[in-house]
Amino acid sequence: MGDTTPSTSNVVVAQPSVVDQAQLWIGRQTALPNSWRCNLIGGLEFLSHFGEALFEGRISTRSRITRLVRMADLPAIEGGHTPNPGAGHNNDYYPRPRRSSGFGQTEEGEGTPLAPVDQTDSRRPVAIVTGANSGCGYETTKALLQAGYFVVLACRSALAAEHAMDRIVQETDLRHMTFMELDLASLESVQGFVEAYRRRGWPLHVLVNNAGIMNTPYARTADGFESQWGVNHVGHFVLTMGLLPVIKRTVSWSPSDKQGNEKRSSFARIINVSSVAHVSEPNFDPAVLEDPAKYHPLVNYGMSKLANICFTAELSRRLAADQDLQGHRRITVNACHPGPVSTGLYRYTPGLSKLGTLLDMILLSPAQGALTQIYLCLAPEVRDVSGVYFFDLEPRATSETARNVQVQKQVWDYTVRQLTDKLPQAKDWA
Ligand SMILES: NC(=O)c1ccc[n+]([C@@H]2O[C@H](COP(=O)([O-])OP(=O)(O)OC[C@H]3O[C@@H](n4cnc5c(N)ncnc54)[C@H](OP(=O)(O)O)[C@@H]3O)[C@@H](O)[C@H]2O)c1
Repeated sequence: MGDTTPSTSNVVVAQPSVVDQAQLWIGRQTALPNSWRCNLIGGLEFLSHFGEALFEGRISTRSRITRLVRMADLPAIEGGHTPNPGAGHNNDYYPRPRRSSGFGQTEEGEGTPLAPVDQTDSRRPVAIVTGANSGCGYETTKALLQAGYFVVLACRSALAAEHAMDRIVQETDLRHMTFMELDLASLESVQGFVEAYRRRGWPLHVLVNNAGIMNTPYARTADGFESQWGVNHVGHFVLTMGLLPVIKRTVSWSPSDKQGNEKRSSFARIINVSSVAHVSEPNFDPAVLEDPAKYHPLVNYGMSKLANICFTAELSRRLAADQDLQGHRRITVNACHPGPVSTGLYRYTPGLSKLGTLLDMILLSPAQGALTQIYLCLAPEVRDVSGVYFFDLEPRATSETARNVQVQKQVWDYTVRQLTDKLPQAKDWA
């Protein structure tokens, strides 16, 4: 990716594993039809994680999450403007009766119980998770709540979000969360979400662009974008750019010590959930997005995930100069791959979607898949790391295309051009 060396001495070196190298090699074989490359890369991915899914028990994943939650690096917050049950937003705390345990985690096999989270504390950092109602987004939401974040579940279905919040309350006894409607397939909905969030006047410390669809039959979003491109990339692009002024305002506040010296400023993290599928695209070819005849469900998924990485790198570069007095970045942007995870994402993948419980056995659990994005949200050691693609808690190599700064800029410019006749503010993002 772009700047794999962050602004501090904390140098990040991507370490491609043998499997990574094989996948990158397949991705470069342009003599192979696109769909073959996608399938070979996906097949290798499944095989390499088969053992892990079977033998690395879920309990150990839970304890890794517990460790991340306990060590969480929370940003300093300014008093008075976080979601507060006593400050006129009474409905923002999920209004379900509390259970009595008082512990942040109650599921069996989750390792040491966490210290109780003080639910009456209104001074919480705030996180938004898109697609929070299921899969990796659900697990990420849970971990952020356990770490002390107030979490906004940004989902397209109120019912699904309510179910998820009920489940979270049952599993953790935590309620400092709310639902806001977001349909990434509609620019009007994304804009509506951004405006509603701005009106609330809340800060924003963590944005997890997690929602996604994969391998879907050809369709267009409300605004005419090919749907995987529209949901996975364009929707998140508009959401992030719309919320950026809120994030910038959030990090402009710095606590000071008794002598009035600025301490390490507040900070924010943006996490874009991409995929190894990006390596199947050796070129960024807009025709694949525009011409229905060139549509291939896996190829177009790979394009959208390539765009997630290009967006991460370019945004990271654009935000690099925004540093506090000690030269630390105020806003970091990173991308990640969850691994092959048994979630609803496979509902359009014939064969796999019918495997049911077997799929759960072959693939990673949602908690295992969410581990890297939780790490990027919470871990102190990545606080100054930006513009990097992670998998399995480590920086990983991306494809040559995704690393190419010209391609990163091309994806950005192309997206802005696609948006200019639809959103007047898009010209300010050029
Ligand atoms: N699972 C894997 O093997 C894998 C591998 C690589 C990358 N990833 C990436 O991981 C991320 C999370 O996926 P997952 O595996 O956790 O799948 P998942 O359980 O299907 O979750 C996807 C989430 O995205 C939401 N979503 C879909 N379309 C949306 C829209 N138009 N507006 C708002 N939200 C929308 C879904 O909402 P509904 O419930 O309403 O549909 C769901 O909450 C995705 O970005 C995916 O590309 C997953």
